[in-house]
Amino acid sequence: MANYDVIVIGSGPGGYVAAIRCAQLGLKTACVEGRETLGGTCLNVGCIPSKALLHASHQLHEAEHNFAKMGLKGKSPSVDWKQMLSYKDDVIGQNTKGIEFLFKKNKIDWLKGWGSIPETGKVKVGDEVHEAKNIIIATGSEVSTLPGVEIDEKTVVSSTGALELPKVPKKMVVIGAGVIGLELGSVYSRLGAEVTVVEFLDHITPGMDGEVQKQFQKLLKKQGLKFIMGAAVQSVETLKTKAKVNYKLRKDDSEETLDADVVLVATGRKPFTDGLGLDALGVKMSERGQIETDDQWRTNVEGIYAIGDAIDGPMLAHKAEDEGMAAAEVIAGKHGHVNYGVIPGVIYTHPEVASVGQTEEQLKEAGRAYKVGKFSFMGNGRAKANFAGDGFVKLLADKETDRILGAHIIGPMAGDLIHEVCVAMEFGAAAEDLALTCHAHPTYSEAVREAALACGDGPIHS
Ligand code: FAD
Ligand code: NAI
Repeated sequence: MANYDVIVIGSGPGGYVAAIRCAQLGLKTACVEGRETLGGTCLNVGCIPSKALLHASHQLHEAEHNFAKMGLKGKSPSVDWKQMLSYKDDVIGQNTKGIEFLFKKNKIDWLKGWGSIPETGKVKVGDEVHEAKNIIIATGSEVSTLPGVEIDEKTVVSSTGALELPKVPKKMVVIGAGVIGLELGSVYSRLGAEVTVVEFLDHITPGMDGEVQKQFQKLLKKQGLKFIMGAAVQSVETLKTKAKVNYKLRKDDSEETLDADVVLVATGRKPFTDGLGLDALGVKMSERGQIETDDQWRTNVEGIYAIGDAIDGPMLAHKAEDEGMAAAEVIAGKHGHVNYGVIPGVIYTHPEVASVGQTEEQLKEAGRAYKVGKFSFMGNGRAKANFAGDGFVKLLADKETDRILGAHIIGPMAGDLIHEVCVAMEFGAAAEDLALTCHAHPTYSEAVREAALACGDGPIHS
């Protein structure tokens, strides 16, 4: 047993960042993690492994589709799936070991095992009970399944199973056209699987700007992904190594079936708080199972904080990280701040899709007068040279003040380009501020400037 200023439960991007910041601020800190390795969903079975597979499969796609055009001839590479998985595992290992190193460097104790809170100020791990003046719950989220669909992680898989399939399936059905479905669907489609995405709504990626949704779906279709929209999955039957996906089309209630070798269930995630003992402590939870907090990440129980996927807001690693840093600062008596209006969202397909701030649909609904500056990557020299002309930058600004309200990018390196707009929004900038900033040529970033110019007197290259 030991006494700590802070015990963080969970070592995902929320938890490990909170622990490091607490230690940096001079607090004696421990972090409880039940997994074999640190880093949570993100490093072990989420962001990092999925990006490794997206990177590898994208290289194959480039070799097959663009190398010859640039005069790079020869046999296109074949897929050694075992090696690709081992590359992915190496990447995971490097990242999770990196957190272990950071814990040692910052003198954070890793309490190995599953933690619970038997009473305020105490955290139990195995048979040991530790004392903590403050507890941060950062236990993340788990896959949320559908009624009638049982995940066996073999034939019917969640994202976790999809990151380690024994072989590339011939036919894959993805349930849900959200972020996971489209990223991992893209991976397997590029590797040769016939991928069909079944989506309940009439559009993909709910919550995203409508124009981006349409362009994104068009480009994914061009890449070979098939879509069945407006379809509610009723059940999945597994027959040895095959599966049948039964769905109902919402427009006429007709019932249809799809065969698959592997079914990926990607219909969302839910907070994971099992075994913590929150009910007995009287910690307030929302109807959706999220831990309720105030704007300083305090729960209703003194000394207990919560951050990341376990609380309200977008289930994103960087949102969890920001909350981790801010909660640590609050505990250390400083000011912790997260600007929820400027949290970017990125989908790491090819092209990438990125957004920040308000969508055009949200502005319309709010009755806000706005202007749109749009610029196609077809007018960007660098993008044309790199076969990356598909897509556009769309900037939304207040009609009167020109203040930037949102940005939506589909195109090369969109996930990096978006940060220029994030910084601008943090400074309360106007579109004109971006338009007046000199951008190096030839870069993809020039497309952002051109979209800003389009909010004023007009872009140059269109
Ligand atoms: P988590 O990362 O879920 O970590 C929680 C940790 O707490 C886990 O390790 C768990 O074992 C541990 N834990 C839980 N209960 C206990 C307990 N009682 N005792 C001890 N330990 C416990 N987000 C992005 O921003 N970008 C991406 O590219 C991205 N890609 C993703 C891809 C996939 C396939 C998935 C599934 C998610 C992805 N996400 C991505 C989402 C991202 O992973 C999460 O938003 C993020 O991990 C949340 O961080 P967290 O710290 O709240 O929780
Ligand atoms: P999601 O919420 O993004 O998408 C789920 C999709 O499934 C929605 O389009 C929904 O309409 C659909 N759906 C729900 N029920 C259905 C049914 N019965 N039949 C057909 N379709 C149905 O959830 P997803 O993709 O599982 O991702 C979970 C979380 O992980 C997200 O919140 C996301 O933020 C995070 N994540 C982030 C990534 C990133 O930032 N690049 C990558 C992967 C995940």
